[in-house]
Amino acid sequence: MCEVLFINASARTGQSTGYALAKELIETIRNRDNNLSITYRALGEGSVPPLTDDYETALAQRTSRDATVFNHSEELIKELERSELLIIATPMHNFTVPASLKLWIDHVVRIGRTFEATPEGKIGLLADRPVYIIVSSGGFHQGAHARQADFLSPYLRHVLGTIGLLDVHFIYLEGQALGTESALAANAEARCRLARLPLLQTTPG
Ligand SMILES: Cc1cc2nc3c(=O)[nH]c(=O)nc-3n(C[C@H](O)[C@H](O)[C@H](O)COP(=O)(O)O)c2cc1C
Repeated sequence: MCEVLFINASARTGQSTGYALAKELIETIRNRDNNLSITYRALGEGSVPPLTDDYETALAQRTSRDATVFNHSEELIKELERSELLIIATPMHNFTVPASLKLWIDHVVRIGRTFEATPEGKIGLLADRPVYIIVSSGGFHQGAHARQADFLSPYLRHVLGTIGLLDVHFIYLEGQALGTESALAANAEARCRLARLPLLQTTPG
């Protein structure tokens, strides 16, 4: 049995290219492991509530994790803790993560719960597990074609590392707004990259 947490940060599930590719990846894994268990969390539909004054006060006061103010945070953290594999499909919004994914991060990256602050810096408290992040974007931000900054990848790598998730892999679906030819070429390249992922290199059991 492999527990997968699938986080989808696209607001347009029906047409999202990142979501579609993530589903293909999950189907490929499912074909190799019939016992896959998938928890799906759609962030684009506003399922994660905004942080409140009470939440921030509770964080500052290091209120017990059982307090109701942490209910949403605990639910999201427990989903993450249960998972053996994390798959995130996210668009790039203004060079970084969409607000919905940032909100998920603000609930999950919690002092005293998923990381601890020490004099030497922040230390992650979660067990590491593979994380695959499919990033869809209208333009290009990688390699020779890059025409814009990418604050999304370094940010996600850093913030996930803060809670202990270090085995992070990115798959880029770029050029989605630059015409059909560009989008198709980017999709083909992303599929090639997916096929080479360490996740898919093991023999089906
Ligand atoms: C608010 C907003 C901001 C965006 N910012 C960027 C950006 O900074 N760079 C970029 O290449 N595309 C940007 N895009 C385009 C999306 O990343 C692109 O449409 C992507 O393919 C959407 O992913 P999805 O099809 O998986 O939903 C933006 C789109 C929106 C709605």
